[in-house]
Amino acid sequence: MASKDCVKVAVRVRPFNKRERDAGSRCVISMTSNSITIQDPRNQQNSRAFTFDYAYWSHSGFSRNKDGLFVPEEAGGRYADQANVFHGLGQGILDNALHGYNATLLAYGQTGSGKSYSMVGNGPNKGLIPSLCERLFQFFRNSQDSRQCQVFFSMLEIYNELVIDLLSKASRSAGGLRVREDQQRGFYVEGLRRVPCDNAVQVEQLMEQGTRTRTTAATHMNANSSRSHMLIIVQLKQIFSKECITKQSNINLVDLAGSERQRSSGSEADRLKEGTAINLSLTTLGNVISALADMTLGKKVVHIPYRDSILTKLLQSALGGNSRTVMIATVSPADICYEESLSTLRYAERAKRIQNKAVVNESPTERLVKELKAENVKLLLRMSRLGQEGRRADDETKELRRLLTHNDLQIRAIQTLWEQHLQEALKDWETQYATITQERRMMQMYPYIMNVNEDAQLSGVVKLFIQEGEWDIGLADNSPRALSIRGLGIQEKHAVFSSHQRRVSITPVFGSKVIVNGTSVSKNTELQHLDRLVLGSNSTYLYIGFPSERSGEDWSRYDYDYFQSELAAAEGIHIQSLCVGQNQTDPSLLAVFYDYIKLMPMVTEANQMSKELKKGVEFKLEIKNLAMSDSKGHDLEKEIAVRVTTVESKQVWMWSKSKFVNRKFLMEEVYQQEVVGGERADRAPLARDRDPFWDPLEPLHLGSAHLWLQSLAFRIPLEEQVEVVGPEGTEEAILQAQLVACSPTGLSLGEDDILIDPSELLGKRLDFQLVLDQCCGLRWVKEARNRGVQIGFQVFDCTQPLYSPAVWHNVNPLLDHRVQFTSLRTSQELLNYLQSNALVLELWGLQEGCSELFSCMDGVQMTQEDGIIIDKMSESENMAKTGGSDLSSSLHALHQDLEQLRNANAVLRKENSTLRDQLHSARNGEHFLRGSLRPSCDAEFAKALKVFYHSMTSVRGQLQRLRRHKPSEEADLLGLRLFVDEHSYLLKDFAAQMEQCVTTLKQDVAAIVRRKREKSGIWS
Ligand SMILES: Nc1ncnc2c1ncn2[C@@H]1O[C@H](COP(=O)(O)OP(=O)(O)OP(=O)(O)O)[C@@H](O)[C@H]1O
Ligand SMILES: [Mg+2]
Repeated sequence: MASKDCVKVAVRVRPFNKRERDAGSRCVISMTSNSITIQDPRNQQNSRAFTFDYAYWSHSGFSRNKDGLFVPEEAGGRYADQANVFHGLGQGILDNALHGYNATLLAYGQTGSGKSYSMVGNGPNKGLIPSLCERLFQFFRNSQDSRQCQVFFSMLEIYNELVIDLLSKASRSAGGLRVREDQQRGFYVEGLRRVPCDNAVQVEQLMEQGTRTRTTAATHMNANSSRSHMLIIVQLKQIFSKECITKQSNINLVDLAGSERQRSSGSEADRLKEGTAINLSLTTLGNVISALADMTLGKKVVHIPYRDSILTKLLQSALGGNSRTVMIATVSPADICYEESLSTLRYAERAKRIQNKAVVNESPTERLVKELKAENVKLLLRMSRLGQEGRRADDETKELRRLLTHNDLQIRAIQTLWEQHLQEALKDWETQYATITQERRMMQMYPYIMNVNEDAQLSGVVKLFIQEGEWDIGLADNSPRALSIRGLGIQEKHAVFSSHQRRVSITPVFGSKVIVNGTSVSKNTELQHLDRLVLGSNSTYLYIGFPSERSGEDWSRYDYDYFQSELAAAEGIHIQSLCVGQNQTDPSLLAVFYDYIKLMPMVTEANQMSKELKKGVEFKLEIKNLAMSDSKGHDLEKEIAVRVTTVESKQVWMWSKSKFVNRKFLMEEVYQQEVVGGERADRAPLARDRDPFWDPLEPLHLGSAHLWLQSLAFRIPLEEQVEVVGPEGTEEAILQAQLVACSPTGLSLGEDDILIDPSELLGKRLDFQLVLDQCCGLRWVKEARNRGVQIGFQVFDCTQPLYSPAVWHNVNPLLDHRVQFTSLRTSQELLNYLQSNALVLELWGLQEGCSELFSCMDGVQMTQEDGIIIDKMSESENMAKTGGSDLSSSLHALHQDLEQLRNANAVLRKENSTLRDQLHSARNGEHFLRGSLRPSCDAEFAKALKVFYHSMTSVRGQLQRLRRHKPSEEADLLGLRLFVDEHSYLLKDFAAQMEQCVTTLKQDVAAIVRRKREKSGIWS
């Protein structure tokens, strides 16, 4: 009978990795019993709690024992080691399988979160799969009953919807194996190699072999294992001869691709969808899980998209079907991974709702044996009856005997197949294992280079030995003295290793790229133990010296990140360079740094592919400063973008990180087909609309300038020359612009209209004009004359940006663009906005063939004088306050009129009485001066303020210059000293200007007050 149970979900938190430790990361995850809380590092108030079936704390409280095992620091400590995890998850899987249920274990999580560590393990810290197999065979050895056990092991990889048999060499070249559907078996991989095993050592050897195939293939295809799913299928058959029953179960052990891949391209629309779906399997898995979870919640689900991807076809029984399933969701504890970890926890939460219906399986073959045996019993009975009856029915007896023999043979065939399989597998092993043994021997004799892969699991699998003499390394494998490697940018003969008198050196062949310890080399270079080599675009190898040079140090620190950080440092990018003057552990800056080192090799590879495919496109990483578009000028957020340029026509695109990652997948595919697959010759060139290297041209955001709005709040006219700063801090142009308060008809206001207190504007009409006069020194047009520019800006609550008309082919174009804005009733929000924000003027670059930007005027309201109405909320709020119906609104208007009349009346009355008083005083011989004093005082105040705000604008400019002032990337110690001097000079200058501003204002105000006192002194 089917037992109904939910997918069990476990979460495991790993220790900080080197990256996170170096960066001083904070742990954002806490655990109590089975509950997990994740804290938003940017907002202490924001945390989320989840509860799962199991929660494993593998983050802290552990030490390494003498056998290299990670164990709890103290007995009974909370640290969950591999044994704990096996005890909680693996044992259950094993028990289920032994009972005859199908069982599945899935590992889900971001790249580097510990999926493979949990599933496969690392060195002595064996993961769930080897431990499970060990226990399985141990159980069989110890079981006292008469069961016969057969274990078949298969290992496959799903990469880009191709199924690759990791235990057979043929499947990848043949374009992968096919997935078929069978009424009884469901989906299965046709022709997948099933290797019989009868001990755990064999399983480990098979896994080693599979990993080797995966690594070599990944290195050759320039692919990354984090993008592929690894599936191990252990088929378990238990024949209980006494009871005459057979239990058969499939154990699926799945190490999924890194989950962030699923999101990387999904987050942003791209013209080219990830058609081939590197992520299709993972995305579909998410959809299947969501649909099944919804079903449990009672929602109506029409369709569960199992058939949409290979992975979900193969896992159909594991999800909502005949299987007992466990998911282990692995998360990083670090603040920089917060988003990914939260997304993993949400995913896991959904998965735990899935209900399965597992049954104990009886295999059709065994049923056949049972049936054959039963038939034999019947045949024997009939024959003995015939004998007893003494009837001579020769023909019938002969036929019965023939059937009996046939059945016997069939039974024996079914039962002996296993023995045969095992014998054949053993032979196979012997040959295969000879190479592994040989390799181990060589490691103890010669220096070698070993691959370092982004996925730590695959590192160190490829080893190339450098024996005495000269050795060519490259694509060529046609000589006995050739070390053959594959990879992007590797030439037929790439470099020569020479080993003489225990000295090993490398000499690059002309034109090939060889980097040693982050530095490009072109001459013979002697290698030292643990030197880092990058050959071609991104084939990374660690050099291991002669055995005598090795002193038991930990090589694992030279991981993929180490290589990439070293290369980034050579380009002048280290984490410190991003954090000038800021808190070093700011998670967003760290994320930018890691994005940078992650994208760097991808950019190199994209460039290499572009070169080989003759696309004429160059890619370059840029760190964009998001302060560009921030109207408050905050300078924290940074983001990685990729600048794409056509070498000849100098067309430029700017791709976001996710778009680039998506395109890179597609480029790889084109490259695979055209270069690796050798289809180039007989293939029509790729249509432009399908070409991942190409995009229609679009206007490009070149940079922004900030025009501070504060003076408008005082109705002080502002005329400015602002610097347009590019995303990398470069000066793109100088923009001359004005902000002028004006009358409704557009006439500039005079000095008498300057306000001392901006709140005087509240509730009143405010008209002002933005005037864009000229753009000077346009770098964009200097680079290529066939270009143009436009200025875009968005004021307060305008929902759409407005653009100045395009100007082309001119480095210093006149813009002469004037726009009027009107607030009919100035709100407090607008006042606040004016006082603390800047108008961001965005410079957009136009290229020949790209369409210009147009202001969308939908929903824009205009005054009679063509002013664009802003501050509409206050209008609508007022409208709302006046009530919905016409009647109540006109009543309200009448009330307001009445109120205004009352106020006017009160003012008039007051004025009347003042006039009366003044008349009275005049009659008594006083000077009639008082009335004229206030306006003249106010005008003086206003002038002082105007001076103050003007000088504040230049102080602000100085502050921005200071913010952008950074040391040159190549700066040495002397350069740094010069920088520090210059910086302190700028600082002094800034402080002096600031001081000057304030002093002038103080003096002006003091003078005004003094004059006022003097004047009042005359009267008193
Ligand atoms: N619980 C743990 N204890 C100690 N080290 C761990 C643990 N989990 C992961 N690690 C280490 O973290 C690194 C990354 O882990 P792992 O390779 O398992 O990640 P992954 O999730 O499989 O990533 P990918 O998606 O790239 O395959 C490895 O060096 C691994 O040894
Ligand atoms: Mg992995």
